[in-house]
Amino acid sequence: MSLLEFKHVAFSVADKNILSDISVSAEAGDFISVVGPSGSGKSTFLKLCSDLISPTKGEIFYDGKNFMDYSPVELRKEIGYCFQIPHLFGSTVMDNIKFPYAIRKKKPDMERIKSLFDQFRMSDDYLNRDVENLSGGEKQRLSLIRSMLFMPKILLLDEVTSALDVDNTLLVEDIIASVNASGTTILWITHSPEQSRKYANKILTIEEGRVKSFEEVAK
Ligand SMILES: Nc1ncnc2c1ncn2[C@@H]1O[C@H](COP(=O)(O)OP(=O)(O)O)[C@@H](O)[C@H]1O
Ligand SMILES: [Mg+2]
Repeated sequence: MSLLEFKHVAFSVADKNILSDISVSAEAGDFISVVGPSGSGKSTFLKLCSDLISPTKGEIFYDGKNFMDYSPVELRKEIGYCFQIPHLFGSTVMDNIKFPYAIRKKKPDMERIKSLFDQFRMSDDYLNRDVENLSGGEKQRLSLIRSMLFMPKILLLDEVTSALDVDNTLLVEDIIASVNASGTTILWITHSPEQSRKYANKILTIEEGRVKSFEEVAK
């Protein structure tokens, strides 16, 4: 059984078909790069995977069960996501870090939090900083840390290295590869052909709202 499965999924807004007849599945442990021209529907596809929006046709299954049969909080715990322009909230970095603990009614695990900041080469005095004053790249890394506090079964990444310099891009790629090696399934939208082939075992190409190809990467 696939971990995530789309069956004839379409998404349209008003009369515009943004995605049509998408039938693809991700197996546990996959690292899938999602590529395609700008405006082809990649981000919309990831939003459907993360339950941020719902299909206008077709069905999505997680672990064999229809998305509709899960509560939004249940799915949120299993499927994490990070977007190119992260949605941060509250006023401080800590407000964002506390959130995944709050929805689980747990106290923040400071040891885990500090070790993640350390892994991303950010000092822990970031915790008291105001999110408004972070650079685009710092926001992207904070958003990644937030999604990794409780490791999800599936991690969805939408151009998460777009605001990072070369060194931080390599750092983040390494972290994502190790997250995948520890069992988390990754779906990663990237513009860089090099990045798309580096770690992925499969490449999903979307063009004009349809699956153009879904192929294994020859290693
Ligand atoms: N909620 C929406 N309402 C109207 N158009 C949308 C909406 N979401 C996405 N689109 C349009 O759908 C197309 C695909 O968008 P998107 O999924 O962001 O593409 P990509 O990530 O591949 O660049 C674009 O033309 C975009 O303008
Ligand atoms: Mg996009």
